[in-house]
Amino acid sequence: MDTIRPCWVAGRPVTGTETLPVYHPFDGAPVGVAAVPDTADVERAVAAAQAATAETAALPAYRRADALRAAAAGLRRRADEIAALITAESGKPLRWSRIEVTRAAGVLDWAAEEARRWSGELQRLDTDPGGVGRIAMTRRVPRGPVLGIAPFNFPLNLVVHKLAPALAVGAPIIVKPAPATPLTALLLGELLAEACLPEGSWSVLPVPDDRMPELVADPRLPVVSFTGSVPVGWRIRDAVPRKHVTLELGGNAAVIVCPDWSSEADLACAARRIAAFATYQAGQSCIAVQRVLVHRDLRERFTELLVAAVRALTLGDPADERTEVGPLINEPAARRVEDWITEAVAAGGRLLTGGARDGATLTPAIVADVPPGERLVAEEVFGPVLTVADFDEIDGAFAAVNESRFGLQAGVFTHDLRTAFRASEVLDMGGVVIGDVPSYRADQVSYGGVKDSGIGREGVRAAMDDLTQDRVLILSGLD
Ligand code: SIN
Repeated sequence: MDTIRPCWVAGRPVTGTETLPVYHPFDGAPVGVAAVPDTADVERAVAAAQAATAETAALPAYRRADALRAAAAGLRRRADEIAALITAESGKPLRWSRIEVTRAAGVLDWAAEEARRWSGELQRLDTDPGGVGRIAMTRRVPRGPVLGIAPFNFPLNLVVHKLAPALAVGAPIIVKPAPATPLTALLLGELLAEACLPEGSWSVLPVPDDRMPELVADPRLPVVSFTGSVPVGWRIRDAVPRKHVTLELGGNAAVIVCPDWSSEADLACAARRIAAFATYQAGQSCIAVQRVLVHRDLRERFTELLVAAVRALTLGDPADERTEVGPLINEPAARRVEDWITEAVAAGGRLLTGGARDGATLTPAIVADVPPGERLVAEEVFGPVLTVADFDEIDGAFAAVNESRFGLQAGVFTHDLRTAFRASEVLDMGGVVIGDVPSYRADQVSYGGVKDSGIGREGVRAAMDDLTQDRVLILSGLD
């Protein structure tokens, strides 16, 4: 096993007494060991974040931008090593880990650019007699130090989505990576340590989940930005109603294949895209396709193509460049998904392919006509499983999509502009993707959900807005 990777307390490496071993989800091989901060380390990190508030906010924009760009350059320089580490600790196929590194470097670059643009607004006030000779300047200032809690499914990019906007607006941040995947976040700390940021402006603390409530409750961290499971997210919000809490939670993303998406090429393309994005990183993405609604006239042709596309996926060792579908994060997660498939089939669903489990790896599955209410359609499956149903009228399809308690993203395969606009109007979602799967995300675009999928928005600029609040300066006597 590797030497211990230090955690980062107020920007400095700490090798504590407690450690957290990390194992490969594919074969259980040891991957590395993370240093776990003790209570005193956590206290130092929080106190330092609070103490660094003014200095971090006052850091000139060019220095914030330089630091963010330096971290992006570091990611690119060490891209192969980092991608291999993401794969080893999360089981994500290497091809997706490489994309994740590229995306994370892009997020840091976007944050650097936004930091330079982050200026505020000037408003004239002579719109009323009482405002003559006055002017208003509104700036966004940090709400305060941020606690960023990241999930296992993007061990790098969803950590960077917490860190980069905070540093761009000048807010200190403490990152808590997921216990299953702390090593990539700790490696990122090595890059931040070279980036000339104020002491205390960042920490990476892989504290176990049972110690998370203390951090969440700490009044010195008035902002909590959480990405992860639905129950944990809403528990956090309920626990600290007076804090600013952002929740990026789950979904059970749907895609609609409309009657106009009917040529052989259209259907083959939709089948390939849906197969790929229901199973990428073993379906463990909040916007992985889970529910497919296909127009009745296309159902037979399309289902045949979809089954073939899913069967054609290459399963196996995620470190192999050819692998498209690797393991889930651990065996209990795969067992849960297997159980949900079994339940859905017992309730009348028809298993068209897949569903066999070997350790943490599950053969991608398609289940047709699952009765509503079954967990496989009603909950977030977070596994390589698709359900298929049909519809007659587009409004019926929209209603079926909206029946979910989640609302993150949906996809609509259509060429019809009116259907596109109507989907965006009617679907109760954070975002709608036309002509593709719901799994598309551009990191600089506003991203987040409605209903049980969360509250608040990420995406670099949106997160910068979220982490800050208006401060108004009125200048009088200018006439
Ligand atoms: C998520 O799982 O919510 C993140 C999806 C992504 O960033 O692509």
